Amino acid sequence: SAAEKDGHDWFMRKEIYEQPRAVADSLLGRRDAAGQLQLDEMRLSDQDLRDIDKIIIIACGTSFYAGMVAKYAIEHWTRIPVEVELASEFRYRDPILTSSTLVVAISQSGETADTLQAIRHARQQRSRVLAICNTNGSTIPRESDAVIYTHAGPEIGVASTKGFLTQLVACYLLALYLAQVKGTRFGDEITEIMDQLESMPAHIQGVLDDDEAMYALAREHVDARSVLFLGRHAGYPVALEGALKLKELAYLHAEGFAAGELKHGPIALVEDRLPVLCVVPPQGRDQLRDKMLSGIQEVRARGARTICLVEEGDETIAPYADVLVRLPKVPVLLQPLVAVVPLQLFACELATALGHDVDQPRNLAKSVTVE
Ligand code: G6P
Repeated sequence: SAAEKDGHDWFMRKEIYEQPRAVADSLLGRRDAAGQLQLDEMRLSDQDLRDIDKIIIIACGTSFYAGMVAKYAIEHWTRIPVEVELASEFRYRDPILTSSTLVVAISQSGETADTLQAIRHARQQRSRVLAICNTNGSTIPRESDAVIYTHAGPEIGVASTKGFLTQLVACYLLALYLAQVKGTRFGDEITEIMDQLESMPAHIQGVLDDDEAMYALAREHVDARSVLFLGRHAGYPVALEGALKLKELAYLHAEGFAAGELKHGPIALVEDRLPVLCVVPPQGRDQLRDKMLSGIQEVRARGARTICLVEEGDETIAPYADVLVRLPKVPVLLQPLVAVVPLQLFACELATALGHDVDQPRNLAKSVTVE
């Protein structure tokens, strides 16, 4: 009923608007009085964590893209090498696992069969497994050595939204916790990043307050046959997630690319009026941003319609953008938390305009319990 959906037409839309609260809840109580990070259900000792020399993140679907973002954060803050692998591929490549490998399984439902089988394989090889999960007592955290629960609350819409944002938060917390234990980042640096994380709910709310512009843009695209998404660095998984949302909900051909790969193939797809959504890295990361800018120019010169998600105050992109979508000013590693939100709004509204069932897309299930 509409009441269950807080007056929204879809659970998904309700869940999109719950994201500031979900992110805030997932950050709650993670710092003790002395400002030290605490992860309640960590269950791995500091010594175990110090011994880790490699991390492998395994997940499926949207959770896999959270894992891709996590790789950037964990490697940057801890210098521990991280691999990210699709759960369904993991065991079949005979992965190199030792007792000093930490396997991180990310799963909203905690029941995804591919992910479950992957962690069973990892534990047989004596690796430690940490689950990032939204569902208390589900199978994946029960079969793991440690868990970080996300606090999104129940997610009903098949396409993950608040589940994804809270997974990102859990990944940042894990990265910072490892940095604290290993001493690769100092206390004040961790405090500063935690402060930035705690300001994210307000930033996400700011993006949601601009929803109408994104909805209007989505409705302009009901006749699109294909949509591309470009990103770099932490914006690359955001591009992949934006494309996945359009496939899932609007049944539209959509692809996300690392912007630097454009010239190695995808640019051949560009034709007149093709919508290309570009996640532009923040200012201060100028090398990244300048290269993104040239990618945007390349596709626009070939007739694409460029829709650019850009930090507020960044005027350099304006001449190359057909549409500008403003994002709050946040560090590059945290940008996915705000950049993905307009893409969720876009997919939800476009699917609605096309008359699709947003909460129950055809052929998809909320949790896939077969391999
Ligand atoms: C299904 C859902 C996706 C989800 C994926 C992984 O395919 O339709 O939205 O991202 O499973 O689910 P999990 O619960 O493991 O995060």
